[in-house]
Amino acid sequence: MTNNIDIAPIGLLTGKVVLITGASRGIGAAAARLFASEGAAVVLAARSTDALQRIVTEVRADGGVADAVTVDLADRASIRAAVDRVEELHGRLDGAFNNGAAIQQPGPLDMTSDEDVEEQFAVNFRGHWTAMTVEAALMRRGGGGAIVNTSSIGSRRANPELPAYGAMKRALDSITETAAVTWGRQGIRVNGITPGGTATEMIDAWEAASPGVVERLTVSIPLGRMAEPREVAEVAAWLLSDRASMVTGAIVPVDGGAGA
Ligand SMILES: NC(=O)c1ccc[n+]([C@@H]2O[C@H](COP(=O)([O-])OP(=O)(O)OC[C@H]3O[C@@H](n4cnc5c(N)ncnc54)[C@H](OP(=O)(O)O)[C@@H]3O)[C@@H](O)[C@H]2O)c1
Repeated sequence: MTNNIDIAPIGLLTGKVVLITGASRGIGAAAARLFASEGAAVVLAARSTDALQRIVTEVRADGGVADAVTVDLADRASIRAAVDRVEELHGRLDGAFNNGAAIQQPGPLDMTSDEDVEEQFAVNFRGHWTAMTVEAALMRRGGGGAIVNTSSIGSRRANPELPAYGAMKRALDSITETAAVTWGRQGIRVNGITPGGTATEMIDAWEAASPGVVERLTVSIPLGRMAEPREVAEVAAWLLSDRASMVTGAIVPVDGGAGA
């Protein structure tokens, strides 16, 4: 062991290939910009191809390496094709930020539609299950990697307004921990983050359906404000980096203290 400190100005994710789902806006788009600025070659995935392409153009203009791949998390074949595309582009995968999700129509348990329950299962749970397994297979071929799944503060408690969403996020926490234990010896770390209220279109949609929700969330946050998407992406960047080399199976709150 040496006490030398490496003072070279190297990015947190320099040299890593990172796939980001839900990268067309919000937290995923912020992550794409941040991870690229930290030296990663990023592959951006979502359904909105035009929005992805705009971010790719922006990252490349700043000297970064970025590509887009269209994916629908409700469609397992499209997830597998997206990871195949990463392999085609880069030959390996070092990090995956499984972040895409849909919000349900806000409302109580007995008013939530079957369609919403199906979509929450397919996109917010099964999509990540499929993504993690194909990502891990590619990571294994390269000797290991790191996965971060975006859950929610809603996974930790009752969700009277988003019951199916909260249930699928809790299920996601379960497979995050299980995958960490299952794949630890294969050099794959798996962690989750649980954002609290974050200023994105998802919250705008909730506010439109339930006026006043932003104010209610804000007063429940000890830091006194919602998170900016970049502040959530920062935690994912660290968890994906080698600086978090001994962290796996953790579900890390990024909520300004709201869960404390
Ligand atoms: N904002 C918050 O307060 C908050 C709080 C806790 C947790 N979260 C979580 O944070 C993550 C990011 O959310 P956000 O706030 O950034 O929301 P957002 O602005 O609504 O972004 C959601 C992203 O997910 C993608 N997506 C949705 N359905 C998809 C599908 N079927 N296939 C592929 N991609 C899909 C969207 O892209 P396309 O529509 O282009 O496909 C978009 O890029 C989510 O997991 C969310 O549950 C957010």
